[in-house]
Amino acid sequence: MFNIAIDGTTSSGKSTLSGQLSKRLGFKRLDTGAIYRGVACNFKRRNLGVVNENSIAQLLQHLEIEIKFKDDIQHVIVNGVDETDNLRTEEISMLTSIISPYQKVREKVLNLQRDFAQKNDCVMEGRDITTVVLPNADVKFYVTATPEERAKRRYLQYKDLPSAPTFEEVLADLKLRDERDEHRQYGKLAVAKDAVVIDTTGKTLGEVTDICENIVRKIQKGK
Ligand code: DC
Repeated sequence: MFNIAIDGTTSSGKSTLSGQLSKRLGFKRLDTGAIYRGVACNFKRRNLGVVNENSIAQLLQHLEIEIKFKDDIQHVIVNGVDETDNLRTEEISMLTSIISPYQKVREKVLNLQRDFAQKNDCVMEGRDITTVVLPNADVKFYVTATPEERAKRRYLQYKDLPSAPTFEEVLADLKLRDERDEHRQYGKLAVAKDAVVIDTTGKTLGEVTDICENIVRKIQKGK
């Protein structure tokens, strides 16, 4: 199987890049952030309270995660409930960044991710895919952009909603999540030694996808 691993900061454009790149190559795409988000939805659904060792142990006592693709859209099903429509609220984003650092949670998600890569030519994106999940991936990318550019992208997504946050709030929120992603003990966001760093600041999605596709095609030819 040919595996492409993509890690990067929040709102760096890595999800959109993964989507486009997998389409062009005819590969499957696995959004691993969506899996952690699904776990957070289940935590909330079960009213497990404050996140700590006890509530995480309770969560893990019964946690079955399934990934299904319907019309090319990734669905995350947790304990039989399809959480796909609930994954992308600010509340779930915050809860996910608190729950995902727990090692036991990461171990649970790890097998699912590796199994997927063994069975599929794929583009897998997340935070620790290049470093922990698929350290032997055929191609590795680390995608980022300046905090201001990333906050602007996120702000534009929200700005027409009734309770839209201000730009400053979005920026502060994003920096907090970067901090959590980069400084936790397990599965922290880091640039793998052999990753190609892609800075998307000021670049269009098409330009970024072209750059990555060219790199992948060259490596495919060499195999
Ligand atoms: O990529 P995203 O914003 O959907 O990720 C949601 C959260 O999950 C974010 O707080 C980081 C975490 N995450 C992780 O810990 N490991 C991954 N492989 C992917 C995401």
